[in-house]
Formats: sequence, structure tokens, C-alpha cells
Amino acid sequence: MMDNPTPNGVIAMKTSLVILASAAALFAAGTANADLNADLKAKGCLGCHDMDKKKVGPAFKDVAAKYKGDKAAAQTKLVAKLKDGKGHPKVKADENEIKSLVEGVLASAK
Ligand code: HEC
Repeated sequence: MMDNPTPNGVIAMKTSLVILASAAALFAAGTANADLNADLKAKGCLGCHDMDKKKVGPAFKDVAAKYKGDKAAAQTKLVAKLKDGKGHPKVKADENEIKSLVEGVLASAK
């Protein structure tokens, strides 16, 4: 009798494709976070802030939690605040950089 290709082989292959796909998704999420951290660091934000701990300024995760309900309005408000340096120390980032940093911070809310 000839070996017939077992359906098991097909299932195993599908399973490993699923595993690969989820690993890729996890990896992508991981890099997004690493990018945000690198950007925050490059712009000096992490001198006064930390993602999880209060330093000179509040923890970004607390900021994200605080504005969770209304991210769009919060983003406009926070970008203006950081850009003008009113009520917040002046930062070395231009408006677009501030926008993407604030967006990243707000998006980090669970
Ligand atoms: C010299 C210290 C310092 C640096 C540098 C700094 N911050 Fe802050 N930040 C603070 C302090 C102090 C507060 C709390 C007072 C306040 O709310 O403005 C704060 C508050 C914030 C808040 C919350 C504001 C609110 O109204 O809830 C955000 C968002 C923020 N910082 C983002 C940033 C980003 C992004 C950078 C980098 C571009 C940055 N900060 C750099 C000191 C700093």
C-alpha cells in the first residue's frame, strides 16, 4: 500500500502558520512600544517622565488613563500645552513630534 498524505500534516502546517502570524502580531506591538520609548527618550521626555512611575512629571500610563475617555480632545489640549510651554516645561520637540508623542502616550492606555 502507498503512503497516503495524512491530513495530519496539513493540520500541523496550518497550525504553525497561525502561530507564526500571532508571533508577528506580538512582535509588531512590541516594536511600536519600543519606538515610542525611544522617541520619548530622544526628545528628553524621559528625563522627567517614565511610562510606569511618577518622576518629576506624572507617569505616562497615568496620563493615558486620565484622558482615556476623550483622547481626541486631550490630544489637542496636551499638544497645545507642550508646544507653548504653558503649564508644562518647554520641550525640545516641534509640533509634529509633540503630536506623535502625545498620541503614543494616549494610545498606551489599556
Ligand atoms: C523638565 C521636566 C519635564 C520634561 C523634560 C517633560 N515633562 Fe511632561 N510634565 C512635567 C511635569 C512637572 C508635569 C506635570 C505638570 C503638568 O501637568 O504640566 C508634566 C506633565 C505632562 C503631561 C500631562 C499634562 C496634563 O495636563 O495632564 C504630558 C502628556 C507630558 N508631560 C508629556 C511630555 C512629553 C511628551 C515630553 C517630551 C517632549 C515631556 N512631557 C517632557 C515635566 C516634564
